[in-house]
Amino acid sequence: MQGERGFPHPGLMPTALAPAQLSWEQDRPRSLAYGDVYFSERDPVGEVHTVFIEANDLPARFRAAQRFSIGETGFGTGLNFSLTLEAWRQHAPPGAFLSYLSVEAHPLKPSDLARSLHVLAVPRNDIRRLLEQYPPSVTGLHRLHFPEERVVLTLVYGDATPALAQVRGSVDAWFLDGFAPSRNPEMWNLAVFRQVARLSRDGTTFGTFTASGQVRRDLEEVGFSVQKVSGFGGKRERCLGTFRGKTPSSRPPRTAAVAGAGIAGLAVAAALRDRGVAVTVFDPMGPGGRASGNPAALLTPHLTAGEPARNALSLAGIRATRALVQGTGSDAVPGLLLARGVEHRGLAAQAARRLTRLLTVDPRDTGDLFSVLSRRVDHPVLFYPDALGLDLGRFCEHLARDLPLERRALDRLRVTPDGPVCDIAGRSRSFDTVIIATGAAQTAGLGGQPQPAVVGGQMTRVSGSLSMSAARALTGQGYCLPERDGQHWLGATYRHGGVHGIRVEDNTDNLRHLSWVDRGLVHAEITDAWYGERAVFSDRLPAVGPFLPVVDSHGCLSHQDGAWLNLGYGSRGLLYAPLLGHWLADRICGLPEPLPAALSSLVNPARHADSGVP
Ligand SMILES: Cc1cc2nc3c(=O)[nH]c(=O)nc-3n(C[C@H](O)[C@H](O)[C@H](O)COP(=O)(O)OP(=O)(O)OC[C@H]3O[C@@H](n4cnc5c(N)ncnc54)[C@H](O)[C@@H]3O)c2cc1C
Ligand SMILES: C[S@@+](CC[C@H](N)C(=O)[O-])C[C@H]1O[C@@H](n2cnc3c(N)ncnc32)[C@H](O)[C@@H]1O
Repeated sequence: MQGERGFPHPGLMPTALAPAQLSWEQDRPRSLAYGDVYFSERDPVGEVHTVFIEANDLPARFRAAQRFSIGETGFGTGLNFSLTLEAWRQHAPPGAFLSYLSVEAHPLKPSDLARSLHVLAVPRNDIRRLLEQYPPSVTGLHRLHFPEERVVLTLVYGDATPALAQVRGSVDAWFLDGFAPSRNPEMWNLAVFRQVARLSRDGTTFGTFTASGQVRRDLEEVGFSVQKVSGFGGKRERCLGTFRGKTPSSRPPRTAAVAGAGIAGLAVAAALRDRGVAVTVFDPMGPGGRASGNPAALLTPHLTAGEPARNALSLAGIRATRALVQGTGSDAVPGLLLARGVEHRGLAAQAARRLTRLLTVDPRDTGDLFSVLSRRVDHPVLFYPDALGLDLGRFCEHLARDLPLERRALDRLRVTPDGPVCDIAGRSRSFDTVIIATGAAQTAGLGGQPQPAVVGGQMTRVSGSLSMSAARALTGQGYCLPERDGQHWLGATYRHGGVHGIRVEDNTDNLRHLSWVDRGLVHAEITDAWYGERAVFSDRLPAVGPFLPVVDSHGCLSHQDGAWLNLGYGSRGLLYAPLLGHWLADRICGLPEPLPAALSSLVNPARHADSGVP
């Protein structure tokens, strides 16, 4: 049952966490709360290799892997992760994908983490990448990306049992870490191990430094066979073992078709490609040919007081998009980045009320997505430090560079008992998985699936230099990008009722709406305009997930296995599409997902099942 405000358990609401308090003894960190060390005094690197990496037979399993997943209890300093990353570089075949999941209740301060890893001679580049993406100290799932190695790290912040209970996906090998069981019983108990077992499948292994009798018995009770072996260094014994239980119900797909080369289709296609799926994108218009051709879009969080679930989705979304932008080597793509940081002014009465309510929220509980510039009730002003302005069309072209793309439409989709079949240019083509990311367009074969409404909109470009910052974009009533080449993009109109194309009155409306930026704007010279169509569901969230079952010609409910929806991004494709592309790819491949079940249910197409077409 869903609890208050979308979260099934009050302990899962995003809440700021206090950092771990450490003392340093000869450059070794010790937890003041637990009175124990983070790693062994004598040979920490050797211990991690023996107790976790070798115990799980990782070098050999990495060599044979196309996809692999590791789960860890207690991220601590990130030493286990860093050494695993090195082992992955050394042993994994090119193109293989690693998902590393780790739970942590007391994240280290970034400076403490850096100090610990420097002392242990972890490569500087690995420390830098970890720190650059180090999450804010707030409970929930946070993903970090290491695209050079095709590795993702999902940090689950919170107490182990409820935190792991939010995770979906399966793990191939566990690092059961934590402080000594006698000092840290919350980490070594049946409730935690039941979650470990839930995320395991037949053949999943574990390694741990402890041989405590209670730990062994509990692990056996949840389904692991446990073996005692000689301990590392001065320690007498430790354990390793294998899970004997359920096998996965479905195999990950080998082939996938994605209809649509907008930001939604490209994000999921790239994520599937990274996970070893042979993916083909179909789009008669090419990358960014429709809404995602937007020349000046904002990546801003959508924050609301009293909706912590949506706020958490914004945090995960902003982080995913920023990682994808970073991965493009954004500085190397000329004209991609148009603004860093966005100032949001509560100008209209409704927006002023919404922002004023937000002033009651502690920014730390949102992962510091905003700071307050003015608390004036009639005109509050917030700043979003991680927001960006981007040329979305250019971003899509860049994302499409290494993806197989056919400039043809998917004319019809049929889901047969043998899987989905696509009619493309007069030919039937079968794929293990098909993803519909066709934005506001209608596609045949989607009967019974939720259909978004179409909302047209226009951007206007003006010459001149408006009185605003050179780096930050402004939003309030409409939005305005900083000057580039002596011009500004302004947007955007929002017209219900579908397709109309570029219109004079939409340019006039944009200038009028944005005259708060600069009074002279109404007389500015218009140099360009751009028109697109948003696909919008009534709750302003996309529909991402499996097709809904449909009633077939015999009146029976027919499941649509292998067919997935990924559309309805409204005005927030930049915020949600990269995150949900990763989520969908992980879901399809059975890997640990970057969103808790409570958040992914917000976008589940099934929420439209009862109401029919919204
Ligand atoms: C004026 C305006 C301003 C906006 N401002 C912002 C903003 O500031 N920030 C933000 O985040 N978002 C903004 N948006 C919204 C954003 O552009 C969309 O959310 C996003 O582009 C949607 O991406 P998509 O991939 O779902 O759809 P699209 O980009 O529309 O992609 C769908 C693709 O599917 C293809 N297609 C259709 N039918 C078929 C078929 N049968 N077979 C194969 N391919 C097919 C189309 O050719 C198209 O390329 C704005 C939108 C508009 C119109
Ligand atoms: C020995 S350290 C882990 C060392 C770590 N694996 C590394 O590579 O540095 C144990 C970690 O478990 C965390 N921890 C302890 N109790 C926890 C709990 N109940 N839930 C989640 N994490 C916990 C501690 O904060 C600490 O970071």
